[in-house]
Amino acid sequence: MCGIVGYIGYRDAYPIVLKGLQRLEYRGYDSAGIALFDDKELKLCKTKGKVADLKEKLENEIDTSGTLGIGHTRWATHGVPNDVNSHPHVSNSGNLVIIHNGIIENYESLKKELIKRGYKFHSDTDTEVLVNLIEDVIKKEDVKLGKAVQIALNQTIGAYAIAVFDKAKPNEIVVARLGSPLAIGVGEDEYFIASDASPFIEFTNNAIYLEDGEMAVVRRNKGVKVRKIKDDSLVDPYIQELQLNLEQIEKNNFDHFMLKEIYEQPSAIRDTYRGRLLAEEGIIRMAGIDDNLERFLNARRIVIVACGTSWHAGLVAEYVFEDLARIPVEVEYASEFRYRNPIINSDDIVLAISQSGETADTMAAIKLAKEKGAFVFGVCNVVGSSISRETNAGAYTHAGPEIGVASTKAFTTQITVLTLIALKLAKAKGSISNTDYHMHLQELETIPQKIEVALKQNDHIKEVALKYKDARNCLYLGRGFNFPVALEGALKLKEISYIHAEGYPAAEMKHGPIALIDEEMPVVVIATRKGHYEKVVSNIQEIKSRQGKIIGIVTEGDTSVRDLADHVIEVPDTIEALTPLITTIPLQLLSYHIAVLLGKDVDQPRNLAKSVTVE
Ligand code: G6P
Repeated sequence: MCGIVGYIGYRDAYPIVLKGLQRLEYRGYDSAGIALFDDKELKLCKTKGKVADLKEKLENEIDTSGTLGIGHTRWATHGVPNDVNSHPHVSNSGNLVIIHNGIIENYESLKKELIKRGYKFHSDTDTEVLVNLIEDVIKKEDVKLGKAVQIALNQTIGAYAIAVFDKAKPNEIVVARLGSPLAIGVGEDEYFIASDASPFIEFTNNAIYLEDGEMAVVRRNKGVKVRKIKDDSLVDPYIQELQLNLEQIEKNNFDHFMLKEIYEQPSAIRDTYRGRLLAEEGIIRMAGIDDNLERFLNARRIVIVACGTSWHAGLVAEYVFEDLARIPVEVEYASEFRYRNPIINSDDIVLAISQSGETADTMAAIKLAKEKGAFVFGVCNVVGSSISRETNAGAYTHAGPEIGVASTKAFTTQITVLTLIALKLAKAKGSISNTDYHMHLQELETIPQKIEVALKQNDHIKEVALKYKDARNCLYLGRGFNFPVALEGALKLKEISYIHAEGYPAAEMKHGPIALIDEEMPVVVIATRKGHYEKVVSNIQEIKSRQGKIIGIVTEGDTSVRDLADHVIEVPDTIEALTPLITTIPLQLLSYHIAVLLGKDVDQPRNLAKSVTVE
C-alpha cells in the first residue's frame, strides 16, 4: 500500500519522481504528492486523486526545479483521501518533509504527547505525527536528522518505509524500513529511493534493498550509510544487480497492463518451468524442494497460507497435492491463521503463496508459523521480496512484473510451480504411476501452447461480455480442480467491474444460490469434459429449468453443454489436474471485457491496491 519515491543527485528531481510515482501507482492511487527542494525553497504540491491529477495541479502551481525530491502515491489508512491527508507531510517548523508507507499503530498516544508539548496537527494521519516526533527529538536532544529518525522510530510501534529530509540540510535523505519495502538505487553521484526498483530502472542497475529494521542516510556525492535502527550497528550494504528491464514494466501495444499480462501467460509459464521441467528425461529440478525433500516427504501435512488470488492458487494446490502426492493439505486465509491460535507443529510445512512477497497478513502468518516451529516454504513472484527472505526455502514463479491490480499471470504461474512441486513429491513418494507421471510432465509442457489457443477466443468472449455487461449479479460454478477457478473468476469480475459475483462448487448451488437464479442471472459454469462432467451437466440443467443464462466453459468439440447453454467458450482439452491453467483464461478475458465496456479503470480499480502491506 502506498508507493514512495525519492531522488537526490544532479538532475532535475521532478520528472524522475513523477515517472516513479506513475510506475508505483499500482500500490495505491487515492491521492498523491511531491515535494521538491532547489537549495532555497521547498515546493510542495498534493492532491486527492491520481498521479495524473497531481501532474496537472503541480505544473500549474509550482516551479518544478530542484535536484532533491520525494513523492508519494497513497492508499488511505488514517484519514480520508483528501489534499491535506496526502503526503508529503511537513513538520511544524516547516523544515522536515516526510513520505511514509505503512502504519504507526501508537500514533494516538504519541500525538497526545506532542500536542501537550505545543505541536499542532493539520491532517488526520499517523505520518504527520511521525515527522513532528522526529522534529521534537532534534530539538530535545540536539542531534542530526539520521540520529533523530532512529530515536523516533524506536518509540513507534507499527510498519513503515519512510524517506525524510531537512530543508536546512538538503544534501541528504534519511530512509528506514520495517515491514514495508524500500530500495535504494545507486548511481554515479546520484541516488534513487523507491518502494520497488521500477522508478529507477533506466538510470541504474544497482540497488540496495534495505532489510527490515534498517535505516540509511543517503548523501549526495557521499554514498549510503546503513545501520540497524535498534542498536545503531553499521551494516555493510549488499549492492544487488537488477534483472528488470524497461519493456517488462511498460504497456507496449496493449490498452491495459491487465490485458498485456493475460496475453503474457504462455511465456510466463514457460519462464516458470524453464530449467525445472525436463519432460523428456522425466525430471523436475527445484533446489528448494531437493534440499528439503526428506522434510516434505515426512511432513504430517502442508498448511497453505495466502490472501486473495494467491489463496485461490492455494486451493488449486490442495486438490493437486492431495490427488497426486497424497499429502494432506489445509488452505487458510493468512489473515485468519495469524489470529486464531492455529495448531502447528514442527512436522508441519507451512507453504506461503504471495505474488508481491509483501502482503502483511501473509508475512505475519509466516512469522507465527516459524515461532511454532514449522518449516516455511515460500512461493513468491517478486525476487528479494520480504516474504522470499523470511521463509526457510522457496521457489520463485518468474512471472515477471505484474502491474495490473487484478492478478492474472501470477495466478497461473503459481499454479504451475505448485503443480511441479506436487508432481516432484508424488514421484518421490511413489504415489503416482510412472506412466501418469510422464504424462503429466509432457502435458504440462504443452500448456503454454494450449493457452495460446484459448486466447484466440478473445473476440467471441468480447461478444459475450457485451451481452452481460449490465448484469447486477453473476454466479460462477465449478467442481473439483475447477471450483477454485470459479472463485477466482468471480473475484476478477468483482475487482474490476464492481459487479457482485459469487463463486460456488456447482453441487452446492442447490443449498442456497439456486434461489437467486432467474432470467436476469448469468451463470458461468466450468464444464470441461473431465472429472465430474456429467454431474456438472445436470447442474446446468437445473439452472436452465429456472431460466438462468448459462455461459459454459467447455472442452473443444463439446456438444452436450452447447445444446443447453446460451453461450459456450471452448478451451483445449488437457489432463484434469491441469485444467485450471486453461479454464482460468476465458474468465480473465470475460471480466476484462466487461470492465472495459463499463468504462471502469481496469488496471487501478477503486479501493484496491496491488500490494497490501497493512493488515
Ligand atoms: C491484493 C491484490 C490481489 C492479491 C492479494 C494478495 O488484494 O489486489 O490481486 O491477490 O493482494 O497479494 P499477494 O501479493 O500476497 O499475492
